[in-house]
Amino acid sequence: MSLVFEKISKSFGPVRALEDVSFEVRPGECRALYGGNGSGKSTVAKIASGTFAATAGRVMIGNTALAPASPATARNLGVGITFQELSLIPDLSVGDNVVIGSVPTRYGLFQNRSKAREMARAELEKVKLGHLADWRVDALQTGEKYLVELAKAMFLKPKFLIIDELTATMHASEVGIFAGLLDAHLKSGGSAVFVSHRLPELRRFCSTISVLRNGRLVFDGVLSEVSDKDLVVWAGGDDASEVPELRLPHAQSTTMVELRQLRPFHWSKPMDLTLYKGEIVGIGGLPDQGQKPLLRLLAGLAPPKNGETVTLDSEELPVGSAVAVAQKGVAFVTGDRDEVVFVRRPIRENMLAPFLAMRGRKLPDDQTLIAALAQLSTRYSSLDAPMNSLSGGNQQKILIARCLLLNPKLIVAEDSTKGIDVSARNDVHHLLREMAHRQDASVIVTSSDDLELAELCDRVLVMENGAVIADLRRAEGRLTTEAIVSSYMRQKKAA
Ligand SMILES: Nc1ncnc2c1ncn2[C@@H]1O[C@H](COP(=O)(O)OP(=O)(O)OP(=O)(O)O)[C@@H](O)[C@H]1O
Ligand SMILES: [Mg+2]
Repeated sequence: MSLVFEKISKSFGPVRALEDVSFEVRPGECRALYGGNGSGKSTVAKIASGTFAATAGRVMIGNTALAPASPATARNLGVGITFQELSLIPDLSVGDNVVIGSVPTRYGLFQNRSKAREMARAELEKVKLGHLADWRVDALQTGEKYLVELAKAMFLKPKFLIIDELTATMHASEVGIFAGLLDAHLKSGGSAVFVSHRLPELRRFCSTISVLRNGRLVFDGVLSEVSDKDLVVWAGGDDASEVPELRLPHAQSTTMVELRQLRPFHWSKPMDLTLYKGEIVGIGGLPDQGQKPLLRLLAGLAPPKNGETVTLDSEELPVGSAVAVAQKGVAFVTGDRDEVVFVRRPIRENMLAPFLAMRGRKLPDDQTLIAALAQLSTRYSSLDAPMNSLSGGNQQKILIARCLLLNPKLIVAEDSTKGIDVSARNDVHHLLREMAHRQDASVIVTSSDDLELAELCDRVLVMENGAVIADLRRAEGRLTTEAIVSSYMRQKKAA
């Protein structure tokens, strides 16, 4: 049985999100759905899963039309989905999130609670998170939340799996878990639609590809027959090789940040860290090795616990207050938009929020906001449009643009290019280098994608269990993806 999109169009008021889109996914096939930010991929995913009804056209599953469009209809026809913006309830347990909506409840309570728990735990074991079944979802790391989203979709044993940007914040080790599940799903005759901006992942998982540009299908064919360059250009982006490389020789001379006595975990030894002006430093390693406490302390989001001190440009940084830290010149970009975005409020308000929080800062006018958004080719209708009318990648661009407008001395970026398309990611890297080299700012970043760290940074510190275990410098020719991966894998094997 195939999943077939027949001449699907979808409008949101005046916005034409999809126009006349047709493709087919056969049993055992994993089809890549590729395109720039705002090209219509999530809209396809939501129509296939009955979340949205198409404005025209129909979705066929075998000989049956997905009608009337509703999540229940799609589920009954065997469609499972993982949502780009997650469908989990943050203050429920991980286990309850997996089974909710799938096992009987009365007045919102599971009728057979212990059975429901057992089933949830068994599903979570498949994504190696069985031990977290009783945790609240909001206590998890971002990559873990996406694995729970996957377990929730797989719990219903779908025939057709729609995967929308599941891996965007997943570390290589987490992508490996997904890969195993996907493989078993396809081998048993299931099929999948896989959405990602990571080209190596498309090549690893998919045999066929549909490319969208401005809501229209511009290519449909066999993936091995097309080059990465073709894909990026068809999606409407610049060929990455044409983006001028701004990588000036970087002399470590003037200190920007001096961090003393940080213990990322209560058991770890205190660590010190110096960041120089004009330097982009990446913090790598397996997930959850202390990267988050480090970045969060610098961003003023984690109160100092053990007498840590931080100076910024020779002045003491009032860590423990995000606003006070921002006043001193620190800008933070999160990889977890839920934390900092007012989804129903206009773009303008979201961009001005950090300026409003800081006394004495002049508010940028609309022209300045528009120019900042244009630098990243952001797709939006007007500054008055609510954030949730933008595609995921375009929301992320708003956060980066507002960070650059703050003209910071230190940029703290946590998986900041999550869900951003290939050509915009190059633009973000270029802008960060510009901030570093032209304005002498320091940048500290984490990324779930080791390749991104190797491309962007002057230096990568690999963390393990709350300590730095490797210091890889571009100037010494030691900064490659392989070097990052082998330093944390070697450590893991030795343990
Ligand atoms: N609820 C909505 N209201 C208004 N416009 C919307 C809504 N949802 C999506 N759109 C618009 O539809 C278009 C396609 O968005 P979609 O989310 O499908 O893009 P995408 O390809 O998934 O992008 P990304 O790579 O950034 O996730 C965009 O122009 C977006 O602004
Ligand atoms: Mg999307």
